[in-house]
Amino acid sequence: MNVTPFWLAGRPATGDESIEVTNPFDGHVVGAASVPTPAQVEEAVAAADAVRRQAAALPLHVRAEALLHVSRRLAERADEVARLITAENGKPLLWARGEVARAVATFRFAAEETRRWSGNVQRLDTEPAAAGRVAYVTRVPRGPVLGISPFNFPLNLTAHKIAPAIAVGTPIIVKPAPATPLSALLLGELLAETDLPVGMFSVLPVPNDRAGGLVDDPRLPIVSFTGSVPVGWSINDQVPRKHVTLELGGNGAAVVLPDADLDWAASRIGLFANYQGGQSCIAVQRVYVDRSVYEEFLPKLIDAVNGLVTGDPWDERTQVGPLVSTDAAVRVETWVNEAVDAGAKVLAGGSRDGAVYAPTILSEVPADAKVAREEVFGPVLLVQPVDGVDDAFAHVNDSAFGLQAGVFTRSLDVAFRAHRELDVGGVIIGDVPSYRADQMPYGGVKDSGVGREGLHSAMNDYTEEKVMVLTGLQL
Ligand code: SIN
Repeated sequence: MNVTPFWLAGRPATGDESIEVTNPFDGHVVGAASVPTPAQVEEAVAAADAVRRQAAALPLHVRAEALLHVSRRLAERADEVARLITAENGKPLLWARGEVARAVATFRFAAEETRRWSGNVQRLDTEPAAAGRVAYVTRVPRGPVLGISPFNFPLNLTAHKIAPAIAVGTPIIVKPAPATPLSALLLGELLAETDLPVGMFSVLPVPNDRAGGLVDDPRLPIVSFTGSVPVGWSINDQVPRKHVTLELGGNGAAVVLPDADLDWAASRIGLFANYQGGQSCIAVQRVYVDRSVYEEFLPKLIDAVNGLVTGDPWDERTQVGPLVSTDAAVRVETWVNEAVDAGAKVLAGGSRDGAVYAPTILSEVPADAKVAREEVFGPVLLVQPVDGVDDAFAHVNDSAFGLQAGVFTRSLDVAFRAHRELDVGGVIIGDVPSYRADQMPYGGVKDSGVGREGLHSAMNDYTEEKVMVLTGLQL
């Protein structure tokens, strides 16, 4: 079997063991990733620590060129990279191609932000006592980053850890998800083609049960984690003195109001409840439809969901493929069955074949069912009539999560109200909560996490302001 080396301080290396990577759709072995030994992990962290001053001093053009190089190489190898994502993650090629295009843009945005990265000068002679003084203010790295990335966007969410680190001039150690390490290792390959100094990056596919040591390591003062809610918050609790960014789950809500284009809303909700098998933190899970248009909207939504092309992720037409594992699909099946036993009605789907769970619509779901309260992370949406904007927004906010929400309306007043009143990190007007542009701030409130990604936001997150006061100047 072909074992892919990991990246230790910018160089390929192999350990004593490897993890096998299988395709969730048909179970075929895609490849394997070499796993670093504890001594190799120590070497990577020591190298990151050793290079941090040199990294911070890297000229902006060197950082920007490295980022642009990765962007260009991803674009050149787009078909191969998309196939790698489909192979290890199972997501249909349609979405894998979209993910590669996004990663191309993520690195390019980071290069652009790097060239804009600057400080400012603040005059202090606003008070007589500070005559002749100015403050020179820049943002400096807090220190090397530990980036822990998830399986659902194995390329682009890893890009969101790496690109801002290079942009601000700080080393990064990436720990990819054990199910999908190959896309992150490919990013390591592209980074190794650049002039970045030794130690600037390592990609270490360590098993989850060894990640705690990296989280604890004081030489990695920033932990940027994307993944599950319990793991995320336990990291936060484990290292309260570190700067921890958590991009966690959601149970994304969409609101459909009477002035919406119902066809557009139905097709977008139907698709984005199920894209990537629903395995996106901003997939649509809860749909609140104004009662006055509920009966008109429902058949459109059912048609949209039943019309989705499901099955083989290698078929270019497929929109909904497998979940990441059969276990994941069985969990979704169990939650749906529990809701049905408690009175929910199945309006579409409701069946499983191996790791593939059929796109499913449930109505009349009891409020305390897991599919309503938790993050399903599967192709399941709940639809419910509501009475006007107040009622709709109250339902959206009745959640432990707060990542993004979508509101289908043409009213600017309602749009601004949604922005004011919905307890989420992002409000999408006229579209699903699943909309994300990689340059915009992205993150949640409540259980959905803390901190923001999006290149500029993550660069701010990885850095802190540092002031130098100049004295005795003639201003
Ligand atoms: C996520 O699942 O949190 C990321 C969604 C995205 O980047 O589109």
